[in-house]
Amino acid sequence: MADIINTAQIPNKQEEYTELLKDILFIRANNSKPKALVRTYGCQQNVADSEKIKGMLEKMGCSFTEVPEEADIIIFNTCAVREHAEDRVFGNVGALKACKRKKPSLLIGLCGCMMEQKHIADKIYKSFPYVGLVFGTHTLHKFPELIYNAVTTGKRIVERGNDDGNIYEGLPIHRDGSFKGWLPIMYGCDNFCSYCIVPYVRGRERSRKPSVILDEAKKMVSAGYKEITLLGQNVNSYGKGLEEKTSFAELLKNVSDIDGDFYVRFMTSHPKDASKELIDTIAANEKICNHIHLPFQSGSDRILSQMNRRYNKERYLEIVNYAKSKIPDLSLTSDVIVGFPGETYSDFQKTLELIKEVEFTSLFTFIYSPRVGTPAAKMDDPVPYEEKSKWFAELLKVQEEIAAKRCALMVGKKYRVLVEEMTKNNLLSARTQNNIIVEFEGKCELIGTFQYVEITQARNWILKGKLL
Ligand code: SAH
Ligand code: SF4
Ligand code: F3S
Repeated sequence: MADIINTAQIPNKQEEYTELLKDILFIRANNSKPKALVRTYGCQQNVADSEKIKGMLEKMGCSFTEVPEEADIIIFNTCAVREHAEDRVFGNVGALKACKRKKPSLLIGLCGCMMEQKHIADKIYKSFPYVGLVFGTHTLHKFPELIYNAVTTGKRIVERGNDDGNIYEGLPIHRDGSFKGWLPIMYGCDNFCSYCIVPYVRGRERSRKPSVILDEAKKMVSAGYKEITLLGQNVNSYGKGLEEKTSFAELLKNVSDIDGDFYVRFMTSHPKDASKELIDTIAANEKICNHIHLPFQSGSDRILSQMNRRYNKERYLEIVNYAKSKIPDLSLTSDVIVGFPGETYSDFQKTLELIKEVEFTSLFTFIYSPRVGTPAAKMDDPVPYEEKSKWFAELLKVQEEIAAKRCALMVGKKYRVLVEEMTKNNLLSARTQNNIIVEFEGKCELIGTFQYVEITQARNWILKGKLL
């Protein structure tokens, strides 16, 4: 697989379509600047893709809106990871029917992971005749051409299911944030965890060249970004198949070596590939945040094996304990699935034991959701959903107590934080290196800057502080 990786520049053709679209979209919007709404569902990978879609729309002359009634183009970038995510998209697309009726020139497009599943794309095509454009994750670089075809032919355009193994560099990016930015380092996933749809909808794993990533990171730092998050489904396997051999730990260090005052984060780490070299790199470099998101999914070795995760609890704890011993004030977060097919209450208890042993700062918890085409969807799943929900509630309670205890330990300590936003209660909200939110009084000019705060109070898992 690796040796077919190919890094292509966007074909000039797309730039030509973009030029033509400037006039076409302007005229379609009654001789005014066309407005686009891009809504993103799912993970940061999708957020990063949406930033490229916005980048391309901006080049076509569009400005952006959050109000569907104002928009001339609406794009939903969808997520297929759980049924709930898909249901939200179906509901929200249904609600666009009225907009299309009021403004027949409105172009509605659906893209992203859901569209890479044939049964879903077929359902959209049949059930939502007012959706004019459907494209998958592998056709993002052809977005200008697809829009052009949709608006000039008036026909419904569907383009999906063609993973050519390429990485298309050079797409324009319109970043959502001005001081926190996403930087994809790789695409796709080869792990095929038995419950997961991602490898089917995102294609084979491929890494961007280190030089391209470093260039982009340097540009972000020069543009004033204070936090760069390196993205991939399994960042620890970065570099497979590249001519220039680079491990993820090396890449991380090289990014953090760029001159400037900024933090580096990364996600997601897969425990099977998390190396001691990675932990040592985090420990040795101040700009790399002391936070690791390390999904364990289950604490039962039997279930981990059924999930095809390729590590066991012992290996997980080994890397966690090594990290705790090397990285001061380390914060660990994780993803957990409750109610995998065949999981018993005794398996679930092992998940709780692991949670109590590691003491995570926070958890992303999910009830198992069967995904068409994955091996787990064919496994026997005798435990009813109501029972799984009870286990889920039990897990949340255990984690809440751990989080509250961890937060209480921070009271009285001083932290350097990146100020992110103003809350509804007129407090500044900031994040510590180890990814904990602190709220305190201060002026909005501080948003996007590093500040020092002292933690004065821990209310459940929300920390209050004062500016130093
Ligand atoms: N690549 C990342 C995770 C991507 S998906 C990793 O391997 O850790 C994000 C999370 O969604 C997963 O970690 C998992 O906990 C959850 N998830 C994925 N498929 C799921 C499913 N079918 N049902 C419930 N949760 C699922
Ligand atoms: Fe899904 Fe597993 Fe790949 Fe993560 S590593 S995206 S859970 S298949
Ligand atoms: Fe969802 Fe696709 Fe991410 S399925 S979780 S948006 S890779």
